[in-house]
Amino acid sequence: MHASILQSLALVAATLAPLAIAIPMTHSMLLPGSHTASEITVVPSGGRVVHVGKDIHVVAANGTVIHVVATAARKSSKSTKARGLTQTGGWITDAQWLNPSDVPIASFKTSWTVPPAPVGKDDQLLYLFNCLEPGSGDAILQPVLQYGTSRLGGGEFWSVASWYLYDGAGVFTSSLVPVDVGQHLGAEIQLVGTSTGPAYSYTSQFTNIPGTGIIVSGAEEMKWASITLEAYGLTAMDDYPIGSTVFSGTSIDLVNGESPKIAWQIADDAADGISTKVSADGSIEISY
Ligand SMILES: *[C@@H]1O[C@H](CO)[C@@H](O)[C@H](O)[C@H]1NC(C)=O
Repeated sequence: MHASILQSLALVAATLAPLAIAIPMTHSMLLPGSHTASEITVVPSGGRVVHVGKDIHVVAANGTVIHVVATAARKSSKSTKARGLTQTGGWITDAQWLNPSDVPIASFKTSWTVPPAPVGKDDQLLYLFNCLEPGSGDAILQPVLQYGTSRLGGGEFWSVASWYLYDGAGVFTSSLVPVDVGQHLGAEIQLVGTSTGPAYSYTSQFTNIPGTGIIVSGAEEMKWASITLEAYGLTAMDDYPIGSTVFSGTSIDLVNGESPKIAWQIADDAADGISTKVSADGSIEISY
């Protein structure tokens, strides 16, 4: 039931995408909720997602290939971001940065506290995350805090998982772990290996919550970084939490050891008063 609601929302979002001309950036981002057409695979603990030619293999910790997803015939389902209460859902507010250098991002860390549960209960689905994407926008890797029921599960509570989406082909996740209001979350995406060609290996995890990590190998270099509030199915402002979420200790390091000065580009949902603000100390605050 809920999945089909999300599916129709995603279709609406996809249909409306060309009209989203007010969006300041042309880069189209992947949206977990827009990928209802792709199959979802929970990667067992200790397993990994491996790009092998035009296929994606899910490999168990013991090395057995337990699932193969062909990407050759994938159909791009990329949506540009939609803003505003309830209409289509999508990225509501975010801070984004494109690494302008040829030196790859080595790590993207941040931490935040699980917000109070929203007062409104309207089957809404909220996602708060940091993420990396390749310049093509074809994939996204993200440690995600969700409220509500996603395709991975959940309910009227907060829970966390790492997600890797490969556009039009598949969605790969860790298992979903419930978390408590007020709990501290340490989120980290790390480059853990490179070889020749498009063969970068990354991990995504909540460093203080076991079972929330995934490993992706053979991926493209991830050059886009973002901290984002994404939401679906809202019907009233109290479907958001009260107050704000501060992403503190936000840092991006490059493989040469440098921590570049980040000029975040902000996109807000001005109509609903949902905004992102970067503080002098580098923390990023999303206000509801
Ligand atoms: C390897 O792990 C998978 C998934 O956990 C399991 O189904 C399979 O039986 C294991 N194979 C061996 C040889 O241990």
